[in-house]
Amino acid sequence: MDRNSRVSNRLSGFIEEISGYRDRNALLDRILAMAREITRADAGTIYLRERLELVFAYTHNDSLFPVDEAHRHAYAAIRLPVSEKSIAGYVASTGRSLNLANVRALPQGAPYSFNDAFDRKTGFVTSSMLTLPFLDRRGHALGVLQLINSLDPQHNPCPFNADMEGDMRMLAREVSGILELSEAEKRGIYGILRMAAVHDPAETGPHAERVGAIAAELYHAWAVKRGHILDVLLQEKGNLRLAAMLHDIGKVGISEAILKKPGALNEEEFGIMRGHTALGASILDDAHGDLSVLAHDIALHHHQRWNGRGYAGSGDEGRLSGEDIPLGARITAIADVFDALVSPRCYKKPWTFDDALAQLRKDSGQHFDPVLVDHLAEISELLEPIYRRFPG
Ligand code: C2E
Ligand code: SIN
Ligand code: SIN
Ligand code: FE
Ligand code: FE
Repeated sequence: MDRNSRVSNRLSGFIEEISGYRDRNALLDRILAMAREITRADAGTIYLRERLELVFAYTHNDSLFPVDEAHRHAYAAIRLPVSEKSIAGYVASTGRSLNLANVRALPQGAPYSFNDAFDRKTGFVTSSMLTLPFLDRRGHALGVLQLINSLDPQHNPCPFNADMEGDMRMLAREVSGILELSEAEKRGIYGILRMAAVHDPAETGPHAERVGAIAAELYHAWAVKRGHILDVLLQEKGNLRLAAMLHDIGKVGISEAILKKPGALNEEEFGIMRGHTALGASILDDAHGDLSVLAHDIALHHHQRWNGRGYAGSGDEGRLSGEDIPLGARITAIADVFDALVSPRCYKKPWTFDDALAQLRKDSGQHFDPVLVDHLAEISELLEPIYRRFPG
């Protein structure tokens, strides 16, 4: 078999494999790994388009950090305008790929320039760069794949060759459809959340994103500790991220008089409020598949407490304790309370991160699963980037 059909066989197996991926980060992680393997690139970054900007979405950099820590860098709040001034912006706005042998010797008259801020900050030295667009069916850029420093056998950076460029065009074409689908799914969830947000200003997209992100990273730490296989872990992580985002969807059924009450709720009002758990579960109940089962369990059980003193409905019915509470719900409980504490609410002021972490530690073993609270300490340096990435 010639090189070309070898690569295309490999890519079709790869596409089949990743088309089941639900989590965007997991998807991007696999795409980068495959692209870097084929092109022997030392580093790579994927940007995704959000309206008129490219948002930094995922990066690998063998010279700066191990690949199994890549998810820790996925919350960098870097944005570039879709304009011809930057390399990634040029590729997104023109839909053309760029294969640059040396970013410090750009073609005469090029509208774009190389931004060396990242190199200066990290000590990394970018030399060759291959940048391609992910195009949707109408030819608009969904995002950009940027590969940096192809390495020769002696590990010295060299230009990306024409074969590599062709292979990456094929990869980008194949992957675009999958990215489009995963974006559509995310938009669906955002639509549901926007409906809820009209009614409850606390349940916004960013709040849901943060709870989803904290829950996903907590799960990641938990699953790594237990030696779970990365592929399975990433699937579960993606499902958990989306399911956790919907934890409070039942608040759509609670009156605004209660939701927006500036002071403390009385006993009767809090009884009604507690019903948002069962209500959310009933909204998510009739769907099928892993994601909806998880979303249902999280909506129903996210206010259960480790000591059995929580709730899953308006009254005392259905209380669970300890490991009888589904894992996803135990994880989401921690993420939700952390975010509720550090955010402003109509009934309270925002707390500092340290105060919120201290409160969770204090309630460890009472309200929260103590093992999971310990994992929160491991991911604590991700909290600042998550809040920068999803502000508001
Ligand atoms: P939420 O605002 O998203 O808060 C989620 C959970 O975070 C709360 O669940 C609670 O476990 C924790 N939390 C929030 N604020 C504080 C705090 O100041 N101190 C401590 N220790 N924990 C806090 P909970 O209590 O079951 O409440 C569920 C939902 O009920 C809340 O969601 C909020 O929408 C509503 N709610 C709770 N208490 C009040 C209140 O006093 N006034 C009003 N207007 N709404 C309330
Ligand atoms: C990774 O952990 O390497 C990517 C998976 C993710 O962040 O969802
Ligand atoms: C970046 O490429 O700027 C993000 C990597 C990091 O945050 O270390
Ligand atoms: Fe809730
Ligand atoms: Fe919430």
